[in-house]
Amino acid sequence: MVDQAEALRNKVRKLQESSTRVIGILSGKGGVGKSVFAVNFALALHRHGKKTLLIDLDIGMANVDILLNLYTAYHFVDMIDKRLPIESVIAQHPSGLSIISGGSGLSHLFNLDEESFRFFLEQFAHLKRMYEYVIFDLPAGFNADTHRFLSAVHEVILVTTTEPTSLADGYAAIKLMTKNHIDVPIFCVINRYDSLQEAKRIWFNLEQTTARFLGKTLTLLGTLPRDRAVVQAVKNQKPFLTGDPKAKVSIGLEALTKKYLQQEAYQAPPSFDSFIHRLKSLFRSKG
Ligand SMILES: Nc1ncnc2c1ncn2[C@@H]1O[C@H](COP(=O)(O)OP(=O)(O)O)[C@@H](O)[C@H]1O
Ligand SMILES: [Mg+2]
Repeated sequence: MVDQAEALRNKVRKLQESSTRVIGILSGKGGVGKSVFAVNFALALHRHGKKTLLIDLDIGMANVDILLNLYTAYHFVDMIDKRLPIESVIAQHPSGLSIISGGSGLSHLFNLDEESFRFFLEQFAHLKRMYEYVIFDLPAGFNADTHRFLSAVHEVILVTTTEPTSLADGYAAIKLMTKNHIDVPIFCVINRYDSLQEAKRIWFNLEQTTARFLGKTLTLLGTLPRDRAVVQAVKNQKPFLTGDPKAKVSIGLEALTKKYLQQEAYQAPPSFDSFIHRLKSLFRSKG
């Protein structure tokens, strides 16, 4: 007998596999572990067999290419300025993870002339048939261009530590998103906690405050402990996930990734074209 539910699940799975999800990784302030998280989360997805591209738009502190000891001949901006095909600016980490280095920020993108922007969109559209996940490591804070860009992505992951300063800035970033009517799902990662109890209390407060004062529901993606393995991995220019797979932080990240992939199985597959379309309208409405 044909199991209809199974047939339906297979159909959804097929659709999921042929779709491309765009994720923006954000934090209220710098130095909270956003880039380290972005690298390791992207790698975790890749290791789960998901075709994943990480694009570094967080210029400033430790760039993705430094975190991975990866030489990248071209930056994201070179693609636009030198009219290069997008494939030529994608670097491969030995793990197989694909990376595009930033070089310059989003302000560059929104300040392009019309022809350059059209070229950028044309190249970007190729990603649809190449990747299941396109992840942006975005700049920290309240940059107007970042917030405009967020209205184009399918979902946001907000990284915060347990420190009041990081939480306050994280909350402010969510507030700005709701104020700008950016209504995408927001997943939270509480990073570098010292006690799980503390992390849980902080999550409870953040979730309650956001629901009560901003009318926004957040989802906890996971909590990651403070772990020397992270510091060591940064020094070694390797992802902690593969550098020290038995470390608490690696086990935590693996659990978080599994949870992410499970909840995603219930979501409608996103349309990459809608991302491109929204970017286009953002460009038009600039100024
Ligand atoms: N879970 C963690 N445990 C210990 N140290 C961490 C952890 N997460 C991040 N760090 C430290 O924080 C530093 C800054 O992280 P990074 O990802 O570059 O910050 P951001 O991108 O938010 O500015 C890292 O170099 C690392 O030393
Ligand atoms: Mg960073």
